[in-house]
Amino acid sequence: MTKELRVGLAGIGTVGAGTFDVLARNREEIMRRAGRAVRIEAVADINTERARQITAGRARVLDDAFALVADPEIDVIIELIGGYGIAKTLVLAAIAQGKHVVTANKALLALHGNEIFAKAREAGVTVAFEAAVAGGIPIIKAMREAMAANRIEWVAGIINGTTNFILSEMRDKGLPFAEVLKQAQALGYAEADPTFDIEGVDAGHKIAILSALAFGTPLQFEGAHIEGITKLESKDIRYAERLGYRIKLLGMTQRRSMGEGKEGLELRVHPTLIPAARLIASVEGAMNAVWVKGDAVGHTMYYGKGAGAEPTASAVIADLVDLARALDGPMEQRVPALAFQADQVRVLPVLPIESIESAYYLRIQVADEPGVLADITRILADQEISIDAVLQPEPAEGEAQTDIILLTHRCVEGHVKRAMASIQALTTVLAPLVMIRLEDLS
Ligand code: HSE
Repeated sequence: MTKELRVGLAGIGTVGAGTFDVLARNREEIMRRAGRAVRIEAVADINTERARQITAGRARVLDDAFALVADPEIDVIIELIGGYGIAKTLVLAAIAQGKHVVTANKALLALHGNEIFAKAREAGVTVAFEAAVAGGIPIIKAMREAMAANRIEWVAGIINGTTNFILSEMRDKGLPFAEVLKQAQALGYAEADPTFDIEGVDAGHKIAILSALAFGTPLQFEGAHIEGITKLESKDIRYAERLGYRIKLLGMTQRRSMGEGKEGLELRVHPTLIPAARLIASVEGAMNAVWVKGDAVGHTMYYGKGAGAEPTASAVIADLVDLARALDGPMEQRVPALAFQADQVRVLPVLPIESIESAYYLRIQVADEPGVLADITRILADQEISIDAVLQPEPAEGEAQTDIILLTHRCVEGHVKRAMASIQALTTVLAPLVMIRLEDLS
């Protein structure tokens, strides 16, 4: 009988409980795929009572995750604690003990992945993280293995379910942001402290990981430009809709030639207008989607649940099955953590947001009088910004002011920022300009 893969589970919250349940329910099927049984030996959680209820006598329950690391009976640690404190110490301790690690912790990898993967390579162990990006969608495996023939051109994703739910509800029901956020919390999509979701940080962690996998760079989360959805107004969602666009919180990364053989990286998260006809614009509610463009394969899109107990458990267990299959095999046959061989990882500088190229939506609240639009278009022309579409809704009854909405063609963000400053200084402009980036994704 082939020896079992013996697992220690650190942190039995929602995903931990899902992992326990799916492993128990699909035990037979998983064993047939893995070539050996995959068994959770022990679970560690500060809430031992809850851990006992979930495990119901099927695994030892401990209150100290480091006891799992010290246990010679355990081959793999699943880290589901979250954050960068204890989780980081635990992962490094597991690696030092020669144990493999499976983690769903995107924040930990985005910030400390370079150190963690280097330590894992030295120790000859694997740190697997399919569950860290877009929950149940197998995007890590798709990019690391199935896209290996391609020069990847760009990656764009809706990779935070909470914000996608909020934007979908704002559009469908015309509700303000604050009200939908409360709804998202009541439904359990958003965290009690949803700052990382709504400020775009969670999506930033995930796009930083995908960027490294796509382009063979170290993890460079610190350089990412991150904007959340807290400042979006319902009226911009409505105007975008009238112009044929949806607004999504998009994570984007793209390799750019900077001339003279130099290359740089766009790495950004922000609300983005996307043509309504694009498949990704139809990704609604708490669902996630990742769109990858490769030079050989062309466009590919991956869709599914980005969070939740069993979707995330599905990814955790897929990593366990990989480890079970490779347990007795030679290390060199395993796939490198970040897709590229460690000695082939190269830094590409993350470009400042002023030098990215995008199209733009501008909403300008103006006095409704002659010459206003002419002043604005002259300023844009001076910055070599070409206009794609203009929308000027009828002013409300008795109002002497209105909104002008402009869509630009693609241009350099620095030019747009300069034009915005000049437009803002016009005496006929009555409120701070609203700017949202627009990606055609073709
Ligand atoms: N809070 C995340 C989301 C869940 O809303 O997508 C998993 O990363």
